[in-house]
Amino acid sequence: RNHVFLGSFIHSSKLDELKYMHQTAVFVDKSGKIAHLEHDCNEGKAKTILQQKLGWDHADTEITSTGEGDFFFPGFIDTHIHAPQYPNAGIFGKTTLLDWLNKYTFPMESSLSDLSKARRVYSQCVRRTLSHGTTTAAYYATIDVAATNLLADLCVSLGQRAFVGRVCMDHEDMCPEYYRDESPDAVMAATHACIDHIRRIDPDYALVSPILTPRFAPSCTPETMTRLGRLAADADLPVQTHISENAAEIALVKHLFPEHATYTDVYDSFRLLGPRTILAHAIHLADAEADLVAARGAKVSHCPCSNSSLGSGEARVRFLLDRGIGVGLGTDVSGGYSPSVLEAARLALLVSRHLAMPHHEAARRHGGGGEEEKDADDDEAERAKLSVEEVLYLATRGGAEVVGLQNRVGAFEVGMEFDAQLVRLGGVPETEQQQEEEQESEDNGPVDIFGWETWEERLAKWVFSGDDRNTKKVWVKGRLVHSRLR
Ligand code: GUN
Ligand code: ZN
Repeated sequence: RNHVFLGSFIHSSKLDELKYMHQTAVFVDKSGKIAHLEHDCNEGKAKTILQQKLGWDHADTEITSTGEGDFFFPGFIDTHIHAPQYPNAGIFGKTTLLDWLNKYTFPMESSLSDLSKARRVYSQCVRRTLSHGTTTAAYYATIDVAATNLLADLCVSLGQRAFVGRVCMDHEDMCPEYYRDESPDAVMAATHACIDHIRRIDPDYALVSPILTPRFAPSCTPETMTRLGRLAADADLPVQTHISENAAEIALVKHLFPEHATYTDVYDSFRLLGPRTILAHAIHLADAEADLVAARGAKVSHCPCSNSSLGSGEARVRFLLDRGIGVGLGTDVSGGYSPSVLEAARLALLVSRHLAMPHHEAARRHGGGGEEEKDADDDEAERAKLSVEEVLYLATRGGAEVVGLQNRVGAFEVGMEFDAQLVRLGGVPETEQQQEEEQESEDNGPVDIFGWETWEERLAKWVFSGDDRNTKKVWVKGRLVHSRLR
C-alpha cells in the first residue's frame, strides 16, 4: 500500500544543522520510496494531493499522523556492529582488545556454528537494534557460512537494511585453531558462498548486501588480503575492517608487516582502502595515515562506546572531518556494551568534550610554546567538541555516506527510501487528569517534557536522556518493522 505520513519531520541538512519541517506530509509509494513531500499540509490537503497529483487510490493508501510534539526522524545507521557478539554486550572485565578477543570474543563467535544458537542470538540482535531505531546495520557475522547466511535471512525477514559480512581470518599464529579459516582458498570459497546466498535471497540487494570482511590485518595472511582486495575491485564490493584501535594492536601490525610504513599502508597496498571501505575506530592514525584515508575516499566508523569500554582511546572525529573523511557512528557490539546508536551519539559528544579538556594533550598540536601558540592550541581543542546537531548527523546522513547509501537513506527527500523512526519524548499533559491518565496508559520513557522547550532543546534532551522507549515505531523502506506496545 501507499502511505502518507503527516506531522513534524526533522533531519540533518548538513553536518551542524538540523532542518525542522512541521505540518508536513511525506508521501511514500508502494516500493517504499518518497514520491512527494508537501509543507504546510493537513489531512484534507494530503488526501487531495494523493489522489489528484499522485493518482493514488484512497482505499489503497494508509495515513499516519503524529501527535503534538512527536516527530519523525531518519532511522539510525550503525556503521559497525558484530551480531554474534551480542550475548557478550557488557561483559569485558578488565581486558583490552587483544586479550578480550581471545577470552570472550572468539569463543562466543565460534559457538555460533550451532545454528539454533545462531538463530536465537541473531534474531534477538536484529530485533533489539530495530527497536532502538537502527534501520541500517553493517554487520560482522562469523566465519561460519551457514550462520552468516542465516543472519542475512533474518535481516530480510525482520526487515532491517543490512550489510552482512562473513568474517575472514586465516593467519595461523594470530587466530586460535578452533576458530580459523584453513587457507586463502577456503576464505575465498566461503566468502563467495555468502555473496551468492545474499544474491539469491535479495537479487537487487534491495535490503541486504554482502560486504567483504577481513577481520583486521593481523588475522589475515597477505595472500588472503591480496585476493580480497582484488575481489573488492573486480566486483565493486564494499569492505569493512578494523584499524588503529589499540596500541598493542598497532605494534603487532608493525611486527607482522615490517615492510609497510603504517597500518593504513598495509590495507592500501592490498587494495583494501577505497571509497567503499569502512574502517572501524581509526583512533591513533598519524597525520599521513589520515591523509591517505582521505585521498582514497575511505570512511571511518567512530565507536566511542567500544573505545571507552575497552580503553582503546579517544578518536579525534573533528581531525577526521576536517580532512574531508566521511564519518559515521558504530556501536561495535560487544566492544561497545550498548546496541543503541543514540547511546553512541551521546558518547561521541562526551568523548569530544574530553578531548577539549585542558589536561588533554591529544587534541593539541604543540606542547609548551609561547602564549600565542597556547591560545591557538586552546582554539583547536575547543573545536574538537561535537554538538547535538553534529552527532545526530553522524548517526544518520553521515552513516549513510559511510555505507554508500547517501542517495537512498538518511534523510527525508523525494526519491529517497523511507527509513524512519517515530519519536515521542513524553506527552505534554495540559491538565492534572490528563497527566494521571497518561501515566496509567503509557510508559512515558526517560524524558520529561514540559511543553515550553524549543525544538532544539527537545532534540538535546533526546540525545542526552532518551532511549528506546522514545522510539515508538520504526519503518524500513516504508514497511513497519517495529512498534512499541506501550
Ligand atoms: N579487532 C579485530 N576483531 C575485533 C572485534 O571483534 N572487535 C573490535 N572492537 N576490534 C577488533
Ligand atoms: Zn569491531
